Amino acid sequence: MKVCSSIDEVREQIGALKNQGKKIGFVPTMGALHQGHLSLINIARKHADVVVVSIFVNPEQFAPDEDFESYPRELDRDLEKCRQENVSVVFTPTEDDLYEDNKYLSIKIDKLNDHMCGKSRPGFFEGVLLVVNKLFNIVEPDVAVFGQKDIQQFVILRQMVSEFNQNVDLVMSRIERANDGLALSSRNTYLSDEERVVAPGLFRALSYIKDQITGGVDTPGLLIEHQKSELEAKGFKIDYLNVFSHTTLEPVKTLANNESYILAGAVWLGETRLIDNILIQL
Ligand code: PAJ
Repeated sequence: MKVCSSIDEVREQIGALKNQGKKIGFVPTMGALHQGHLSLINIARKHADVVVVSIFVNPEQFAPDEDFESYPRELDRDLEKCRQENVSVVFTPTEDDLYEDNKYLSIKIDKLNDHMCGKSRPGFFEGVLLVVNKLFNIVEPDVAVFGQKDIQQFVILRQMVSEFNQNVDLVMSRIERANDGLALSSRNTYLSDEERVVAPGLFRALSYIKDQITGGVDTPGLLIEHQKSELEAKGFKIDYLNVFSHTTLEPVKTLANNESYILAGAVWLGETRLIDNILIQL
């Protein structure tokens, strides 16, 4: 496994693999790797000959009041996990490698940013697009794998690839969960023992709503409001909990047959923001 911190180095390594005719699968991450990330690596291996992982805590996607400084950084452990997963190249750029001092360009996101996390985290997805765009230009992967866990990220990236004619296939990988249903996340380490016990409540609420919807409820508004109150009573602060169109990401009040929806929630538990979602095909 090659660990490359400079852009030239990683281009050279990947170029050599491409010259051998290898198909490149790419998994961008911010590190603190858990089973969710490892499942993406496995999916990438299924779609490609070699896997490249990037580890970079991207400052551009953190607002000034967010957790950039305290975000978990555990590079040695991450590299060991990548080694065990037979990753071929790990790209670990520094901020200086990726960002120039003077920036004159930015990517603007239109309507796909109006709801869900885009609404409550201004600038977040612009930062994600910027870095993923850079990483795609550096790694030039054939396939890149992203998690359903961050479904809005996936939808916006899919739009970027399509609108900018980027030559990469995107694959979405399912959400890996702890035994009690909590979606794995690098940020789960922020939870206190008490909060960790309560945290699966978000997935339980989503699962309950999903069961009601697949059982025939086509206007889930009241049901969702009730679940929000239950979550609040358990100590969650709700950012959003709703059903969204899987194409436009707009909230949907009345559900129709033969349509796909994203049932998604974002909540705060103490200082920790948790997100989760379930895809619904009616
Ligand atoms: P990060 O939060 O490290 O996540 C890296 C990838 O792992 C993302 O595609 C995310 O959706 C996926 N992932 C996270 N938790 C998961 C889980 N429980 N099951 C399955 N997949 C999971 O997402 C980012 O980093 C950044 O925004 C990035 C795309 C790297 C750009 O900086």
